[in-house]
Amino acid sequence: MSAPFLRVLDSPQELAREAAREVVELLGAALRERGRARLVLAGGSTPRALYRELAAEPLRSRLDWTRVECFFGDERCVPPEDERSNYRMARESLLDPLELDARAVHRMRGELGPEAGAREYERELERSFGAQPARFDLILLGLGADGHTASLFPGDAALAERELRVAPACAPVEPRDRITLTLPVLCEARALLFLVAGGDKAAALARVLSQEGQDALPAALARPARGELLWRVDRAAAALLDAP
Ligand code: 6PG
Repeated sequence: MSAPFLRVLDSPQELAREAAREVVELLGAALRERGRARLVLAGGSTPRALYRELAAEPLRSRLDWTRVECFFGDERCVPPEDERSNYRMARESLLDPLELDARAVHRMRGELGPEAGAREYERELERSFGAQPARFDLILLGLGADGHTASLFPGDAALAERELRVAPACAPVEPRDRITLTLPVLCEARALLFLVAGGDKAAALARVLSQEGQDALPAALARPARGELLWRVDRAAAALLDAP
């Protein structure tokens, strides 16, 4: 039975716990069906609690992480040790605690700058998927208060990219230079899991969940063509949603 489209959890802690459990279930299914799993990590601050849950018992030992490869949905164009780096956040909360083999971690090299960094990651995806569609087993995403996801921002050229898998992007806030997976890659996923917490996201969440059509906000456009779309939010972020 497929998972519910939207789940509202009472607190950010409950959200992290429940979402982590579902991540383990989804990746476990990928390992059973295909022997390996390719996961895309989200950036920002919300996923940190989720990553800590994944790296701690009891969940840690429920998944054979040696058969999971980790990629990134987007990155800021800063050095990897910069406190604004999505890689640094994931390394501290998930990758180091799990002691993942470095060869299983595909870092976006933000330090190269948006254009060179995007070209380099395009090659990284080619090494992993070849000419086949980049069909990830699970892509984790966040939601910005302006309706962006990954580093696909309203009105930015990266949002319109339909050929490349990775694009340079420009954020309206610092650090402005970014690298991002493009919409076709997000929509190719077997599962997209959005993780949203906090009252500051309530208006964006209500808009995104009610939108249709190509002029919708970036997060509303991220819908798997052949996969599951899962929204996992806390009660504060759900404040403006119609009662279920
Ligand atoms: C980034 C993220 C971005 C993030 C949202 C939500 O690089 O910032 O990829 O898309 O998921 O901005 O960020 P918070 O979780 O910090 O609210």
